[in-house]
Amino acid sequence: MVKTMKLIGISFLITLAVISCKHNEGDYHGIHERITKESENFKGTTISSDAYINEIKTIEITEGDHTFLIPERKSQIKSYACSDCHTVSLSELKDRKNIKKAHWDINLNHANEKIMNCATCHNGSAMDHLKSLTNTKIDFNKSYVVCSQCHTKQFKDWKGGAHGKRIASWAPPRLSNTCVNCHNPHDPHFETKFPDRFNTQYEKERK
Ligand code: HEC
Ligand code: HEC
Ligand code: HEC
Ligand code: HEC
Repeated sequence: MVKTMKLIGISFLITLAVISCKHNEGDYHGIHERITKESENFKGTTISSDAYINEIKTIEITEGDHTFLIPERKSQIKSYACSDCHTVSLSELKDRKNIKKAHWDINLNHANEKIMNCATCHNGSAMDHLKSLTNTKIDFNKSYVVCSQCHTKQFKDWKGGAHGKRIASWAPPRLSNTCVNCHNPHDPHFETKFPDRFNTQYEKERK
């Protein structure tokens, strides 16, 4: 009798152990279950990158599903506002005699000159704005819109955070460098760099 009771007791405990699935570490059935369970009570993070952003003048942009901050540009451009000098359209300016040469530091080295010149991006009659290929005004703070017309792949990657760099920290709010923080719009190409490699041949010869 006692033996039977013991047996029933033990099998009960075994069944209980099999049915109940305690969620201690390592007890999840897979990574997906673990993520789902452990994020059930997640109420968002309290960490913020605000402290690192304070110093930087930013603007907020929304592109598709992505809303984030980028550095403001206009206050960084020395020759802005352009209208300080560009009071007349470029064509009128060109007609004037003895105008001083300006912008000698800008050499366009971007795309073939058949498809690109200053007027591709600059608005000859409203110089304080950039311009699109269809002649609409684009704010200097949103120059990425100019780039996105031709570099659609990099623009898509940039929006999603895969091209370019986040500044401040990984905590929200997101602050990302804009295209012209890294690429000079007039000469945007970077030379390919290879990582330094340990040269075994050189080491052998040195001995
Ligand atoms: C200090 C005066 C001054 C300021 C400020 C200035 N420009 Fe100019 N810019 C000129 C003069 C003068 C010319 C015409 C002479 C020349 O082409 O070199 C000119 C010409 C240009 C041209 C035509 C160049 C060409 O080769 O066809 C572009 C484009 C231009 N400026 C863009 C800008 C933009 C954009 C800004 C503002 C970010 C700006 N400029 C600010 C004086 C100025
Ligand atoms: C691919 C588009 C593009 C073309 C083509 C282009 N620019 Fe620009 N340019 C820009 C953008 C974008 C900025 C603002 C960059 C920034 O935010 O620092 C700018 C800034 C400038 C500025 C102000 C910054 C500075 O260095 O003084 C001047 C002046 C200027 N451009 C003149 C010209 C002239 C002259 C040409 C033709 C020789 C030209 N740009 C061709 C896109 C372009
Ligand atoms: C009108 C179309 C057009 C616009 C607007 C434009 N680009 Fe370009 N870009 C080109 C073309 C064409 C090339 C040359 C591609 C090549 O040689 O493979 C090029 C080349 C480049 C390169 C070098 C690519 C390489 O292989 O090294 C970079 C970087 C770049 N652009 C960035 C920008 C940025 C940043 C802007 C905005 C300020 C911009 N582009 C605006 C058409 C454009
Ligand atoms: C944080 C800096 C940074 C920002 C921001 C950035 N880029 Fe780049 N981009 C790079 C670097 C670095 C490369 C060179 C990659 C290589 O050579 O392998 C590059 C390469 C490119 C190329 C050449 C093609 C390629 O993929 O190698 C294009 C075109 C380009 N970027 C366009 C853009 C545009 C358009 C934006 C904005 C929407 C942008 N980039 C924003 C750093 C940046």
